Amino acid sequence: MSNHNQKAVLVTGSSSGIGRACGMYLAERGYLVFAGVRKGEDADKLAGLGLKNLVPVCPLDMTKPEDITGAGRTIEEELSKRGIPGLYAVLNNAGGGFIAPLELMDIDKWRRETETRLVGPVALLQATLPLLRKGGGRVLWIQTPGLMPIAFDASIHACDFASNCLSRTLGQELKPWGIPSIQIRCGAISTPSVERSYRELAASMAQWSSAGLELYNEALRKTEKSFRAMDAGRSDPEMIARLVFRALGDRKPKRRYHAGAMSGVSAVMECLPHPLVDRIMEKR
Ligand SMILES: NC(=O)c1ccc[n+]([C@@H]2O[C@H](COP(=O)([O-])OP(=O)(O)OC[C@H]3O[C@@H](n4cnc5c(N)ncnc54)[C@H](OP(=O)(O)O)[C@@H]3O)[C@@H](O)[C@H]2O)c1
Repeated sequence: MSNHNQKAVLVTGSSSGIGRACGMYLAERGYLVFAGVRKGEDADKLAGLGLKNLVPVCPLDMTKPEDITGAGRTIEEELSKRGIPGLYAVLNNAGGGFIAPLELMDIDKWRRETETRLVGPVALLQATLPLLRKGGGRVLWIQTPGLMPIAFDASIHACDFASNCLSRTLGQELKPWGIPSIQIRCGAISTPSVERSYRELAASMAQWSSAGLELYNEALRKTEKSFRAMDAGRSDPEMIARLVFRALGDRKPKRRYHAGAMSGVSAVMECLPHPLVDRIMEKR
């Protein structure tokens, strides 16, 4: 691929898990990858991989407007240095999520999560759309496989409901320019976020008042047990990287792509009437 025909993709949250796997997979296959990370040490680790097509963009914290505009400028300069006319894709991947009942949820953490998953991607879109238009681009959104409220997991799933709306709204708004907005629906994937969520739950529970703990202790233990029961069957993040590669390569991309453990059953659940889904979820 000559430099100027090379397709450039920005991946947010590239330091670990799905974002890292996507960044590496795409860079190894000829895409120029702008790998957004928050910390200098993660940028160094990515640079140390020796992949010539992988360019760390740091800092890119999705809760910080100055990082987002700065990343837009960095990417524009880098593209112009390389003679590449525009950005081919943005992959909105950055996100965390944590287990907590709404009643006891750490509100600052929740605010950061909504900023990361919802506010930040819109700001990033504003910073990169001129480049995406020049690059004949597309926007991809990493999401869970089916829209479902799951007790104690609202930090992920509430963002997914909203992200679903954002991505579909964007598809409508950008249709005149032929810029598709594509959902990448991921089932249960084996990433560092899984163990981290259990560690963070234990740390939160240690801080709650005994009255608060008493209210939710049993239900949370049961939830953690049911989440852990899925862990052995989680899919490798490279499965999502392959899916993203496909969604980037398809001339007429689908609106949604699915992969990963439990993604089929979750997609079916999403199609059921809401009262039925609620009854099923309450019985878990
Ligand atoms: N794992 C699954 O089963 C699964 C399933 C469906 C969807 N997802 C979604 O996939 C995405 C990636 O999750 P993962 O499982 O790969 O987790 P992960 O390994 O923990 O990776 C999360 C990435 O997001 C970054 N990040 C978090 N907050 C950020 C912020 N404010 N600004 C910029 N970057 C931020 C992290 O950076 P730091 O290293 O700096 O924290 C890290 O690079 C998330 O949006 C998650 O909801 C995951």
